[in-house]
Order: sequence, then structure tokens, then C-alpha cells
Amino acid sequence: MARLVVVSNRVAPIEEGKQQAGGLAVAVMAALKKTGGVWFGWSGETVDADSGELTIARAGAITRATIDLSRRDYDEYYNGFANSVLWPLFHYRIGLLSFSRRTWEGYLRVNALFAEKLAPLLRGSDMVWVHDYHLIPVGERLRERGLENPMGFFLHTPWPAPEVLIAVPTHAALVKAMCAYDVVGFHTESDLHSFANYIRDETGGTVEHLGEEGMRIRAYGRTVLARAFPISIDTGAMTAVAQQAGRTVAARRLRESLVGRDLIIGVDRLDYSKGLPQRFEAFQCLLDNYPELRGKVSFMQIAPPSRSDVPEYAAIRRELEAAAGHINGRFADFDWVPLRYLNKSFSQKALAGFFRTARIGLVTPLRDGMNLVAKEYVACQDPDDPGVLVLSRFAGAAAEMREALIVNPFDAEGVADAIQRGLTMRLEERRERHAALMAHLRRWDIVRWREEFVAALASVPTAAERRRNIA
Ligand code: F6P
Repeated sequence: MARLVVVSNRVAPIEEGKQQAGGLAVAVMAALKKTGGVWFGWSGETVDADSGELTIARAGAITRATIDLSRRDYDEYYNGFANSVLWPLFHYRIGLLSFSRRTWEGYLRVNALFAEKLAPLLRGSDMVWVHDYHLIPVGERLRERGLENPMGFFLHTPWPAPEVLIAVPTHAALVKAMCAYDVVGFHTESDLHSFANYIRDETGGTVEHLGEEGMRIRAYGRTVLARAFPISIDTGAMTAVAQQAGRTVAARRLRESLVGRDLIIGVDRLDYSKGLPQRFEAFQCLLDNYPELRGKVSFMQIAPPSRSDVPEYAAIRRELEAAAGHINGRFADFDWVPLRYLNKSFSQKALAGFFRTARIGLVTPLRDGMNLVAKEYVACQDPDDPGVLVLSRFAGAAAEMREALIVNPFDAEGVADAIQRGLTMRLEERRERHAALMAHLRRWDIVRWREEFVAALASVPTAAERRRNIA
């Protein structure tokens, strides 16, 4: 089997015992262990010197190769084009776009640097798998260096409709860069269709529907397989952790602090795409419209700060601090704090215990590629007495998790009604919904996601085969 080379902005540690808990890191690492391989990306360090200092660490058959970034590159590539243009654009927040030619050039420069540093590490038979919006042009830069390896790209965010995408002046260059890959993967059929619509309407390319196998795109002189590969979690591992996690000190202390009240939980990076102000408003509506719940429920929102150097992230943090203070100021009593708002992160095990304790999992992004918290919350429930997932229709997960209570996060009263419905749902209905969701999560877990993508990439004809076919 061909060696796998994974490229992403952030790279997980490979040393034994330092493995990250995240499902993606675990799944990709498992694939790398199987085939041997390289994980290449940014070290996470910004330096005063120029970008590009390469650090290579090996553990068995896996090589971790990372480069440092200069402050200027970090600012223009990561804070700038990736997180102030592509992130808001891909999450349908055109009003937050902050485009400049300077950050676009910085994005291209860092992508070219990734290709320059990666190319000497590649063997002719390697499969290259690039991840996420930070690195769309890496494949095209590698092709320009003459590399003919099978190359795949997976987008971890939504792909927007063409009329949204064209708001960025460099949309054509981005889509052309996508077509340098052999396989491009999206979370949902809807993202896939948005991509295909752009190809058809804006590039003069063609789209051939292949049923479950996705679509064959012909554009910019290349043939690309485009397909939805919904990312998932390590369902078995998560369920096992949750069974233990209910007995941790943290879970026990949480339960004690609730003194019999029902817990509503939200866990999100502190990001404007997650719909947290709207979620807080929905919680207020719940307490306004269902006064019998006052003193009977607690809402715990965990929101570790993220991308703090980007101004919009600092702004949402301030907005939420004010909103949390307002809600507690209005409703709290001497023995009850309705909203617990925590700007910190917790271990996967602690979270699993919190999820298992919570009667409602509140996952209400305004737009999200997939949202794995929705899947984790379900996998952590006690099947005999499961909680209820309240899920935004704008999360990629909603396309699969039909047995959740699906809501529109812009409709605060509708979300409040769904929470109330979840809190009062009969045990039998809760069990039925949970069992159906779990059956899906067991069938389509993170291993299946990775295997389907790698199999699609492995099925791409090699350059030599393509030449033979033409001859
Ligand atoms: O899923 C989207 C994503 O941007 C990942 O690529 C990334 O690792 C994660 O969110 C966290 O964001 P950041 O790397 O900017 O902290």
C-alpha cells in the first residue's frame, strides 16, 4: 500500500503518550501507522526569523515534519486570508470579510513555502492528503514542481454557494487550485453541490453524476473526483470513555453542584460561527416563556477562546461576557445561577462525563462544516436514560442526525420550545431517538471516513496509467 502524506495547518504530536484526543488526529495517525507516512504542517510557533525552519521528528514509520512561521506570515496567512477571509466566507458571513491583496499574497506565499519544503520529502508513490481551507493551493504548487502523485483535499468547513463564494475577488484562483487535486472531499451533499454549481456556472467545466461515488468534475484541463465524506467520531472509543467518565471526580462534582436540576450543555470554540449570542438569547426565552423552569435548569456553556488575534473573535468574546452577565443578573437567585459560562477547555474524559450528565446537548451553530460535538454528545449518553440533542439545521451533522430535535438557531423561541420539549420528552421516545442516532454513528465512524477517502484516492489512476490510457 502506498505511503500516506498528510498535510494540515496544525499537526498532532506523534510521540507515544502525547497522542491528541481529537478523533481526526487519532484516525489520521492510525492510517499513518498502517501505511507509514509523513504528517507535515505548521509547528504552531511564530518566530522573529524568516519562515521555513524545518523540524523533523520520527517515531517508527511516522515522520512529523513542521515549519515555523514568521510573524508576518502568521499574520497574513493565518490571521489574515485564512481566518479573516476564507473562514467568514465559508461560513456565509460576507459582512465580516476583510480582504486585501496583501493577505492574499501572504496566503499564496505560505502555501508555496509548504510545497517547497514538502516536495523533497515526497516519494513518487506517495499519496498526499491535504486538509482544510488554510492550504487549498498547496496541491497546485506541488503540481507546478512536477509532482504527479495522487493528491486529495478534504475541506473541514462548509463550501458556500457560488453567489457567496464570488464575494472574494480571488474565487477563480481558489477553485482552479482545488482542481489540481485528484479527489476533493466535502462534509455534505449540499457542499458538494455548491462546488459543482460553481464549476458548471463559472468555469465552463462539466459535472458528471456518479451516484454514491460523487461527481466527476472536468475543469481547467483536469479531471477531479468530488464527493461528500461526512467526518465522524471514534464512536466505540467515545462510548467506552463516557461509561468510565460518569465516575470521574469532575462529573461527580458537576452532578453535586446541580442538586437535582437538569443540565443543558454547549461546548464550542469561542467562534462567531457557533451562534452563541443567539443561543444565550434562546436560553433567556426559555426562562421567559417557561417560568416553571426557573430554578430547575442550569445551562453550562463551555467556550475556550480561539484565534484571539483576529478582531472579530475579541469582539464576540466581549459580547458574550456582557450577555452572560445580563442573563444571570436578571434571573439568578441566592441559590441558583442559571448560566455557567466557562472560557476554558477540558479534557476529552471530563467532557464525556459532562455530556453524559446533561439532559440536553445544545448545538446551534449559524453555520458549521459538520460539528463533532453533536456526535460526541450522542455517543456519551447512557442508552437506558439518554439525553436529547437539539441541533441547528445549519450544522453539517443535521443532514445525518435526523432524530435530533432540529432547530433554526435564528429562531430563539423555536430553540427554547425544542429545549423544553427535550426536557419533558418521555423516556421511550428519548431511547428510540438515541438508538437510531447511535446506529448511524456506529456504521459511519471516523475509521470509515478515513478509509473511504483513502480508498477513493487509491483508486485514482496513476500518472503512468493515465499516460498509457491516452497512448
Ligand atoms: O475545523 C476547522 C478548523 O479550522 C481546523 O482546521 C482547526 O484545526 C480547528 O478548526 C481549530 O482552529 P485553529 O487551528 O485556528 O485553532
